[in-house]
Amino acid sequence: MSDIKRIGILTSGGDCAGLNAVIRAVVNAASLKGWEIYGIKFGTDGLTNRPLQYEVLTPDNFSNTPWPRLSGSYLGSLNSGVKLESMETLSKRFGEGARELGLDALVVIGGDGSMNIVSNYCHKAGIRMVGIPKTIDNDTPITDSSVGFATACQVCSDALDSLTLTARSHNRALILEVMGRDAGHLAMHSAIAGMADVCLVPEIPYKIDAIVDRLKSIKASGRNHALIVVSEGVKREDGQHVSAATNKIGETVYGGIGQYLSAEINKRYKEFQTRVTTLGHTQRSGNPSAFDRVLATMFGARAVELLQAGKTNRMVVWKNSSLSDYDIDQVVKEGTTLLDPKSDYVKAARLTGMYVGEE
Ligand code: F6P
Repeated sequence: MSDIKRIGILTSGGDCAGLNAVIRAVVNAASLKGWEIYGIKFGTDGLTNRPLQYEVLTPDNFSNTPWPRLSGSYLGSLNSGVKLESMETLSKRFGEGARELGLDALVVIGGDGSMNIVSNYCHKAGIRMVGIPKTIDNDTPITDSSVGFATACQVCSDALDSLTLTARSHNRALILEVMGRDAGHLAMHSAIAGMADVCLVPEIPYKIDAIVDRLKSIKASGRNHALIVVSEGVKREDGQHVSAATNKIGETVYGGIGQYLSAEINKRYKEFQTRVTTLGHTQRSGNPSAFDRVLATMFGARAVELLQAGKTNRMVVWKNSSLSDYDIDQVVKEGTTLLDPKSDYVKAARLTGMYVGEE
């Protein structure tokens, strides 16, 4: 029997579709156990800032409102990368905040970075924690899927459907730049779903001449348009990042590779005009897909089950089509999961005629 009476829940890192469906699942499952649920606002900020920012949540917050069906985070989130105070100061204030609220445990909805940071805070503060993976990048280790990825793929695939129609009207090769940071999962899945002709991902080197050859062969086949997907983390052909912009803590802010490609392709080939669409943060929104809602509900329910069973410092995962959980330290140790250039996704793309870089 668990001694838990009150839990906290927070969303951390970049938002994505499905976060509210996770919050609803946790709130419903926890309140059925008679626990109180405190929603912590703006990620860890809600516990490290003063006054503390939180809201007591009940199933009513979600049962009679559109919230669980919407993207964004009801609670607000925090990109931890922009925090400038020391870990020591923050974890101390975090622990004091959690104790002031009387939290027995915390459910953290976040990506690999958040699992690392928040599990550290919780460890130092002696707070039990269960993690739920979410990210449009799908780069959280061990889990095959994170909440938000499927919806982001749908947003990109829908964009490609739209682009192909206008590309056809104007003899164009349209370039879609998608997010994903250093991982090409979002680009590759979207390119396959959206039936693109070229897909460039950070994990696989490419040649502009090979892209041009692919465009020439499309033209020779009688088609007057093409679709190119490029992941924001792809570097120029010479291996340099396009963007020199950095955020407050010196991390590269990605973006711009689409324009580089457009210019380079046009220098070599004029039959198809190129134009660039950068989807940007629309990929983090969109109507949460059925898969993301199902995943959100299973993850939320399992997180509460784990807390009830006294199994903490765990992250719930979806692996080989079943629900499971792993030690968070192991998740953190594995780092970011990149797209495997030998994966079935890349293989299928190549076998169906997509140029995905050099073998
Ligand atoms: O990690 C999610 C993500 O959307 C990345 O794909 C992207 O590079 C980054 O966040 C953008 O972050 P921000 O919202 O800070 O611009």
